[in-house]
Amino acid sequence: LDNGVGLTPPMGWNSWNRFQCNVDEELIKATADALVSTGLAKLGYKYVNIDDCWGERRRDPQGNLVANATSFPSGMAALGDYIHGLGLKFGIYSSAGTGTCCETMPGSLGHEQQDANTFASWGVDYLKYDNCVDPYTSPIIRYKTMSEALNNTGRPIFYNICVKNDMQPAIWGANIGNSWRTTEDIHDNWDRMLYIADMNEFYADYAQPGGWNDPDMLEVGNGGMTYSEYLVHFSIWAISKAPLILGCDLRKLSNETLNIVGNIEVIAVNQDHLGIQAKKVRNFGRHEVWAGPLSGNRVVVLFVNRKRKSMTIPALWVDIGILDNVPHRARDLWQHEDLQTTFQGNMTMTLSGRSCKMFVLTPLS
Ligand code: DGJ
Repeated sequence: LDNGVGLTPPMGWNSWNRFQCNVDEELIKATADALVSTGLAKLGYKYVNIDDCWGERRRDPQGNLVANATSFPSGMAALGDYIHGLGLKFGIYSSAGTGTCCETMPGSLGHEQQDANTFASWGVDYLKYDNCVDPYTSPIIRYKTMSEALNNTGRPIFYNICVKNDMQPAIWGANIGNSWRTTEDIHDNWDRMLYIADMNEFYADYAQPGGWNDPDMLEVGNGGMTYSEYLVHFSIWAISKAPLILGCDLRKLSNETLNIVGNIEVIAVNQDHLGIQAKKVRNFGRHEVWAGPLSGNRVVVLFVNRKRKSMTIPALWVDIGILDNVPHRARDLWQHEDLQTTFQGNMTMTLSGRSCKMFVLTPLS
């Protein structure tokens, strides 16, 4: 969507994966503080997004959505001010039906302009718009109505279309939103994460600056995968130009998690201004090579081993889409080092079980 935002994939945090309905203003403020104190904000993680369950069960007598008086007693405008005061951006959640998915609060159907105005008056910078208590009318129309309502507010608001891939939002989302879900919900385990990654890869051609495929939010740091498995998760999301929306408890961030989500070189791949989503270019079964172009004639290459035992995998230049006779320098983005040898025609790597290796290749001539 050409609304001036989302020229690179959005980065930030969302409450759902870790906290579901257990959200309140203390959590949101502490998370915003943590984004700054951990240094993640400086690396680009700016959006602080509240998911479902932030509101009262009913609208006020004027029909406005209102913040839950118990969990958000200071109100959303004050919370927005707090977040903006830290140099961050404020995100909120609603639904294109008559209720949200947890059915704890009303949805925005039939109130699109009123709610968009409310969000803008609170200083909202990001709207995740879910599809629950769905009247089973065309999502294209319902999502477009909110898109226009947001546009009418005059405030640039990143607009995430949270319609699952059964309604193919990748195909109709580009003129309506800044990102669209391509999958069901992620879960914090290896098989589900890879299933989601594969489903999202199918839509790679639809990603572009201003409109991104959204394979759901990150589970890194939530405890259900090993360090090595989380490296694979974060690497695939980065090269897929996925929104990097953290989903763990930032108040208790471990060094391991910070090492993963704070890798400045991997983030730079995600934020590369070309905005081209990498694809799986060679599938050997349960081990594979992903690759995609970056600015400056560079390419990113990701080797993934899904098996439990170690595997040796070649990445062929012909698969990656670079000329066979051009030698390349390789930088390992997880080891933070340039490899001593240069590569031409292919590069072959040995990977331990359930792991990845990620390189940026730069042509020598
Ligand atoms: C479904 C979405 O896919 C989740 O990310 C989350 O927003 C929940 N709804 C909230 O009810």
